[in-house]
Amino acid sequence: RYLIVIGRDITEQKQLEAQLIQSQKMEAIGQLAGGVAHDFNNLLQIIQSNLWLARESLEREDAPLDRVGTSELLGEAFKAGDRGAKLTRQLLAFSRKKMLSPETVDPNEMIERMTSLLGRTLGEDIEIEIFVEDDIPPIHVDAGNLENAILNLALNAKGAMPKGGKLTIGAFKRNLDRELATEDGAMPVGEYVEISVTDTGGGMSAETLDRAIEPFFTTKDVGDGSGLGLSMVYGFTKQSGGHMTLQSEVGKGTTVKVLLPVAEAKADAGGEKQKEAVAGGGRGTILVVEDDMDVRRITVMLLNNLGYDTLEAEDALSAIEILKNDDGIDLLFSDVVMPRGITGIELAREVSRTKGIKVLLTSGYPIAELEKSGLSESDFRFLKKPYTTEELSRAVKALLEG
Ligand SMILES: Nc1ncnc2c1ncn2[C@@H]1O[C@H](COP(=O)(O)OP(=O)(O)OP(=O)(O)O)[C@@H](O)[C@H]1O
Ligand SMILES: [Mg+2]
Repeated sequence: RYLIVIGRDITEQKQLEAQLIQSQKMEAIGQLAGGVAHDFNNLLQIIQSNLWLARESLEREDAPLDRVGTSELLGEAFKAGDRGAKLTRQLLAFSRKKMLSPETVDPNEMIERMTSLLGRTLGEDIEIEIFVEDDIPPIHVDAGNLENAILNLALNAKGAMPKGGKLTIGAFKRNLDRELATEDGAMPVGEYVEISVTDTGGGMSAETLDRAIEPFFTTKDVGDGSGLGLSMVYGFTKQSGGHMTLQSEVGKGTTVKVLLPVAEAKADAGGEKQKEAVAGGGRGTILVVEDDMDVRRITVMLLNNLGYDTLEAEDALSAIEILKNDDGIDLLFSDVVMPRGITGIELAREVSRTKGIKVLLTSGYPIAELEKSGLSESDFRFLKKPYTTEELSRAVKALLEG
């Protein structure tokens, strides 16, 4: 008996395919980066202008604004900062260095909140109908990403209804009492909320429906669609422990259903952290290690304002010098990625080993990225940038008092 093996070397073909995918991806990222830069510039503009006016009103004798007015300006700057933080979260989620921060979200409230935005986005020719059950339980998802998902689905619906039509957004309770088989695995038993987006547009052909979720698959003209909408919604849903299904019929319309797990009953203090009292009262000395001078200065000011004493270093080597000569330091608060070779992680290891000082690390990079350079989540407490004063206060307090 003989066994005949016929082979073909497809290495090169695979490489070409990979290159093509990569270059398409780069193009999409280029577009995205352009859009994001634009949004960021606007946000920075808002921040700069508001701060400028606030300073003006504090410095001038004939100040045009009173305290309340000035505080409002600062409030505007805060809001813009928050929006910027949201934007970078989305970007990071997109670049797959996923950094979802799930929280407890009331779906009905979110849908209601989005209605006016959707109305403006979809235009007058599209009627919007909201169809939600009353007692929808809260779900555990990243709120920004869910908003984005609903927006993406609505934009797809708009694209499918160039002559107008109706968009229906629904929210329903779904109880899966046995494993629900899906094409890529089973959904665990449990309670879910189904959010559905239905349009009365042109629908999808079987071929389109088959590929719609693929990243970069689009039937739109170049420049009109990147083909990422549905793949992002799908990716987000999966990462959130949910599932997405598409139903579509040519000439009738499309329904996209997103199934998301209900939040565990444990009290999450009603979702969004509200502004807490962060008055002074902090006690202890903190060594702040941060290479960006402006970030360092404002960090020190925040910590002083919370009542802590501070020392500063611009990199790990200077920090080590300071630590050698000073025994009164209670906490090391260090950036992770810094110049001059030694990272915050190495510094932290050294310090916690030899000195037994508490450590809080911070970075603009998501923890998943940092894990690649050897930080494991359990090693040290970690605060991701940008953080609010409340978050900083809480983290420092927990370490110093705990
Ligand atoms: N509601 C819908 N009705 C009809 N076709 C749809 C609908 N949603 C998606 N599609 C089809 O699926 C394709 C992929 O959708 P997806 O949202 O991933 O990308 P896109 O809308 O083309 O581009 P992007 O969302 O990145 O701007 C679309 O080009 C369209 O052909
Ligand atoms: Mg789309």
